[in-house]
Amino acid sequence: MARCRFFSLVSLGFLALIHVGLASEAELGKARFATCMACHGMAGEGNAALQAPSLAGQEAYYLKAQLKKFKEDIRGADSRDITGMQMKAMTMTLPNDQAVTEVIAYIHTFPVPKHKATLDGDPAKGKTFFATCAACHGADAKGNIALKSPALVHLPDWYIVAQLIKFKDGIRGAHPKDAEGLMMAPMAKMLPDEKAMKDVAAYILSLQ
Ligand code: HEC
Ligand code: HEC
Repeated sequence: MARCRFFSLVSLGFLALIHVGLASEAELGKARFATCMACHGMAGEGNAALQAPSLAGQEAYYLKAQLKKFKEDIRGADSRDITGMQMKAMTMTLPNDQAVTEVIAYIHTFPVPKHKATLDGDPAKGKTFFATCAACHGADAKGNIALKSPALVHLPDWYIVAQLIKFKDGIRGAHPKDAEGLMMAPMAKMLPDEKAMKDVAAYILSLQ
């Protein structure tokens, strides 16, 4: 009995230690996020005027992968990519993997944002286009980690359209080292025009 209590005390102590460890990682990330806040908002909700997307609600593996791509000139290095180049410069404030882990831990303390429609897309038309997208991003647009396809449901409509245009024009997802981007780019090319992009974004928004 006594031994049993001893073990449960030890394991409780261990759990408490793990908990403190996690809390301090997010805490360290808070200081790092001070830079990001200027564009992505206090709670990672995004800023349309600056074309900076919401980050809250996105999975860690994807945020990490994108930060690495920006840093390594795989994303945001095309001279036509003004907003991508702006973001690329910001990765200099994250010197190593630990810094990236910390900032992501802090982003994960934010509530998932809910966005209002800002474009005149038709969700009913968008639904038919989305059938293709669902194969990778999921029917609920919550993403599929096995296919490295991010969640889209928490993203603002203007950002979805902006990225689809970049993929279609070869500004994103054209670098030979960008395996996931190369998978996504032909999908954007299947959407006939900007109207179709707005429609699909309106449908994704309706899944919130
Ligand atoms: C000067 C404004 C600015 C600052 C500061 C900034 N960002 Fe960004 N960020 C952007 C813009 C604009 C984009 C969209 C880039 C594009 O259009 O491809 C972006 C995109 C991203 C993305 C990709 C999101 C996605 O869904 O693919 C991540 C991740 C990100 N930022 C993280 C950060 C972090 C972490 C920081 C702080 C270290 C930070 N940003 C600071 C402007 C900024
Ligand atoms: C074959 C799988 C696949 C299909 C089908 C697909 N995507 Fe993607 N998509 C991806 C992957 C993988 C990425 C991540 C690319 C990267 O890492 O840069 C992505 C990224 C995106 C992004 C960028 C998200 C962000 O946060 O920056 C948007 C927007 C997007 N997809 C929309 C769509 C839409 C709309 C469709 C349907 C027309 C679609 N995708 C179909 C695999 C797919």
